[in-house]
Amino acid sequence: MATVIDGKAVAQTIRSEIADEVRLLSQKYGKVPGLAVVIVGNRKDSESYVKTKRKACADLGINSFDIDLPEEVSEAEVIRHVHELNANPDVHGILVQLPLPKHINEEKVLTEISLAKDVDGFHPLNIGKLAMKGRDPLFLPCTPKACLELLSRSGVSIKGKRAVVVGRSNIVGLPASLLLLKADATVTIVHSQTSQSDTESIIREADIVIAAAGQAKMIKGSWIKPGAAVIDVGTNSVDDPTRKSGYRLVGDVDFEEASKVAGWITPVPGGVGPMTVTMLLKNTLEGAKRNIE
Ligand code: GUN
Repeated sequence: MATVIDGKAVAQTIRSEIADEVRLLSQKYGKVPGLAVVIVGNRKDSESYVKTKRKACADLGINSFDIDLPEEVSEAEVIRHVHELNANPDVHGILVQLPLPKHINEEKVLTEISLAKDVDGFHPLNIGKLAMKGRDPLFLPCTPKACLELLSRSGVSIKGKRAVVVGRSNIVGLPASLLLLKADATVTIVHSQTSQSDTESIIREADIVIAAAGQAKMIKGSWIKPGAAVIDVGTNSVDDPTRKSGYRLVGDVDFEEASKVAGWITPVPGGVGPMTVTMLLKNTLEGAKRNIE
């Protein structure tokens, strides 16, 4: 049976380390880290993510700057807010919640965020540096960083290992594959255009699997190499009439099956999720610390 990686517990440990550092920073330098979270429109999922991020800031003594804009706001107005936050010395991190409404060019907005405040790590220059050997981005994207932190805290080495990333999104799959490459893994990405037989056979050879496809239980236990480390980023909502809410969250991996074969596995919920927000808080703290040094 696999070791189940308790992301909630690891996140708690790191959060208390961050809270200690936030206190110290404030006592020593009178500086309180600040995170600005910009949300456009009323998507339920985005509202829920943003609420979690803002609450996590409050819990750790990090100042939260809330910018809530209506769905029909212009691109220029969003960029004006970003510029204002770039210029605000109390803001050390800026996050624009994605996706943005269709009439706003995501790349244009993300490119306007000051590199020194890009705590999501989505600025094309930060992603470019992530992709290049010998260059270091100022911030690593939170979810991929969370995946690697969970591997490292579980004692899983990456160097020379075969890793597969399932999914190629800008937010998770692509940066996760670049981060694994930087950590000296041999990396393959499988995605929606990969044939079913290639998807299965490539996953079967992987020592490390990062699943970020957004497809409930698509990865079967029989595809997992015995002893592999499986990090499940999927958070798929499926109907469950036995619950009061009527639904429950499941990952991209069939946990019941895969946990019998894998060496390590993250559950959903309680795996990567709590760690992602924790990495955001860590990036914000790093941004604030860099600001004094
Ligand atoms: N939408 C879904 N995940 C994320 C994330 O990590 N950051 C931002 N900015 N938007 C998201």
